[in-house]
Amino acid sequence: MSKITIIGAGNVGATCADVIIRRELASEVVMIDIKPGFAEGKALDITQTAALHEFDTRVIGVTNDYSQSAGSDVVVITSGIPRKPGMTREELIGTNAGIVKDLIGKILSYSPNAVLIVVSNPMDTMTYLSVKASGISKNRIIGMGGMLDSSRFKCYLSKALNAPASDIEAMVIGGHGDTTMIPLTRYATYKGIPVSTLLDAETLNKVAADTMVGGATLTKLLGTSAWYAPGAAAATLVEAVIRDQKKLMPCSVYLEGEFGQKDICIGVLVIVGKNGWEKVAEIELNEGEKEAFSKSAEAVRTTNNVLYEIKAL
Ligand code: NAI
Ligand code: 2OP
Repeated sequence: MSKITIIGAGNVGATCADVIIRRELASEVVMIDIKPGFAEGKALDITQTAALHEFDTRVIGVTNDYSQSAGSDVVVITSGIPRKPGMTREELIGTNAGIVKDLIGKILSYSPNAVLIVVSNPMDTMTYLSVKASGISKNRIIGMGGMLDSSRFKCYLSKALNAPASDIEAMVIGGHGDTTMIPLTRYATYKGIPVSTLLDAETLNKVAADTMVGGATLTKLLGTSAWYAPGAAAATLVEAVIRDQKKLMPCSVYLEGEFGQKDICIGVLVIVGKNGWEKVAEIELNEGEKEAFSKSAEAVRTTNNVLYEIKAL
């Protein structure tokens, strides 16, 4: 069975671990945090649910000891600071770039073949940093943002349709930012029926707008950013890798010409399996969607440039 390491045992990291364990995706889950005793505490707390949830996964928490992660199949990076109300994801770059860059080498020295899932924000830029700083195959580095944004899109569509979210197919591409994400309303369906035939334009516009500020809405309510949906979204991506599912998922990956973009990580649809992401699905975009995608890429590139300004790259 598999071994999965999660860096950062905070809100998103611990939730992701909990979902992974409940779905029985690994024989061992290791959580690493910088705060002394924190990952150990989270691991012990989760372990004490074993009799209740009936799992036998070994859960280990350590402070900064990467040797415990050796031989991991997947490593999820959630370490860093989250948003506070009024903050954008982009404002986290200085702190989180230092953290992410520092741990990439440590992860790979113990798990040279692992697939890396990047969650820390600003996620597209942290994914780009991971690709550039690691030197490993671009296919083994996946940024998680589109899975969460698509789940929020489905949530708001389900409320508008008064239907279960699991009956809805909808995807969000582009950057994982309040103004950069692109909910693809044209492709959204309810049991195969285009939602554009079921909801009026005003409702659809509101659903898209609510999706785009989905993270900010929760940050305002909670005083920090969300964790249940982010943790479950990251775990769902882990599942696709561990079970070699070949699922089509919206993920931030390194593009080399797809959709007219290169040298950037941004959300597109990819097939995910045991080796990471395998192929970009170049779906047809109309003129408006193409324009939104290039604007989004421009914004992500502006944030990426900060990495060079602060000499993280
Ligand atoms: P949190 O503050 O609850 O947890 C972060 C943990 O990282 C803390 O326990 C902290 O001690 C640890 N940490 C900090 N530096 C570290 C280091 N060098 N090594 C190991 N651990 C370290 O924050 P939360 O809510 O879990 O968010 C984590 C990150 O994920 C944030 O950057 C947040 O913006 C991002 N996020 C991204 C989402 C996405 O869709 N991509 C969704 C939600 C959050
Ligand atoms: C979210 O979308 C802040 O990226 C985080 O909840």
